[in-house]
Formats: sequence, C-alpha cells, structure tokens
Amino acid sequence: MERTDPAEPGAPGIGVDTQGDGVPVGGRTPAGEEQATPQESTGKARIPLLEAVRAHERTSAFIAAADTFLEAQGFTEHGFRHAKLVGHISFNVLTHLGHDARTAELGAVAGYLHDIGNVVSRAYHGQTSAMLAYDLLKELEVPPADIAQVLAAVGNHEEQYGVAVSPVGAAVILADKSDVHRSRVRKDAVIEMDIHDRVNSAVQASFLRVDPDAATLTLELTIDTEISQVLEYFEIFLERMIMCRRAARTLGCSFRITVNGVHVL
Ligand SMILES: [Fe+2]
Ligand SMILES: [Fe+2]
Repeated sequence: MERTDPAEPGAPGIGVDTQGDGVPVGGRTPAGEEQATPQESTGKARIPLLEAVRAHERTSAFIAAADTFLEAQGFTEHGFRHAKLVGHISFNVLTHLGHDARTAELGAVAGYLHDIGNVVSRAYHGQTSAMLAYDLLKELEVPPADIAQVLAAVGNHEEQYGVAVSPVGAAVILADKSDVHRSRVRKDAVIEMDIHDRVNSAVQASFLRVDPDAATLTLELTIDTEISQVLEYFEIFLERMIMCRRAARTLGCSFRITVNGVHVL
C-alpha cells in the first residue's frame, strides 16, 4: 500500500493524532482548537443524530462528571476529547470500509456514548453506558432497531467481556482501543509510578489507518522509548490488541500494528 502522510488532506488513513497534542483528523485541525466532529472532518453531510445526542444536556453533564469521577479514581482522561475522538474514528472506519451512512452515523453515536456509564461506576461501565444510551435514544425517538445497534456496540466495548458483534461494535472497539496518547495523562500523574500513565505518556502519535483495498486496519504508533519500552505497551494492552484483531475480522479486515515504522504484527 502506498503510504500517505496522514497530515495531507485526502490521506486514506484515519487519524487518532498526528501532532502529539491529542488532536484527531489526520492532523488537519490546528493544535488547541475544538476537535473536529465527524461531519467537520469528512466534509460530508451533517450527522443529525450525533448532533442531537451531543446537544442533550444530560449527555454533556454525564460525560463531564464521569471524567471527573474517573480522575478521582486515578484513571486517564475519558472526557469530551475521548468521546469525540472515538465517535469520529468509528464513523470514519465504517465510512471508509463502505458501510452505509446510517450505520456510520450509529457508529459515531455509539463511539460518543460508549464511556458515559462511568458516571455510575467504572465496574461494568459498558453495560451502564448502554442503559443510559437507551434512555437518551428513546427520548430522541430513534427507531428500536437502530437503538439496538448502539446498545450492542456500547455494551461490548470493554475487553473483559466485550465481543465485536457487529460492524458498529467492531468500529467502536477499534476506535476506543486506538486512543492511547500522552494527552490522556492527568497533570499530576507520576509516570514512574504507574505503567498506564507511563505508556500513555510515551505515545507521541497513534494513527489508525484504513486501507479498504488491502482490507487492512493498521494501528501506527510512535512511541518514545526513552519514556517507556515498547514491551510495556503490549504488557498492558495485549488483551486490547487481540480484541482489535477480532474486531477487524468482523469488518472483513486484518489488523496490523507498526511501532516507530516497524511492523510488529
Ligand atoms: Fe470504556
Ligand atoms: Fe473508552
């Protein structure tokens, strides 16, 4: 496959971040600006359901609170940045692989809501997220069959019990597990003390590249090995990477990983 600079407009890849600042969308969004939403990043039609979900005051209140509660428990960032990013990547994975607009839209919504259940508890937050998503989508009069797609994707995103049961679910898994990045580390973290903080701190760039022709999904990582050895990444994320491989298979693709330009999977 021809390698294209992710920052170049029209690049086939889907960016988690290419600038080392947590900004998604292939590096086309300048640092410090509001992260691009799927419709902004793709230049395609608006996504009314995602807009309605995001505009609901309960969504914003719960995501903000969930992030605060997770910070109190010592977890990395799970706020609006992560929600937007996972929604964005899910949408683009499905779009690039030729799924219809409604499926991509449901992927965007599922990605945005997947962690909202952390407002209740970290334990089984996938299930709690699904229940909260159900209330919200019912209120927005989303057809039951579409709600079902979102619930299954949200409820199956955690590696402890999740399975990629559908293309929407697979896209959310890949998007969520790809988001390892230094911008997720809390300000007061002591990276020497916590392997998750250390590994996240070491990841300077993380880019999920979709190649529909080769049927591959490649997670391209740039890791500062002065901060954390590559082995530490796999020490804590092996289960996630296996989950990504299965999710890619659900999408009819192979899953690959490169670290600092070298294929490791
Ligand atoms: Fe989660
Ligand atoms: Fe997540």
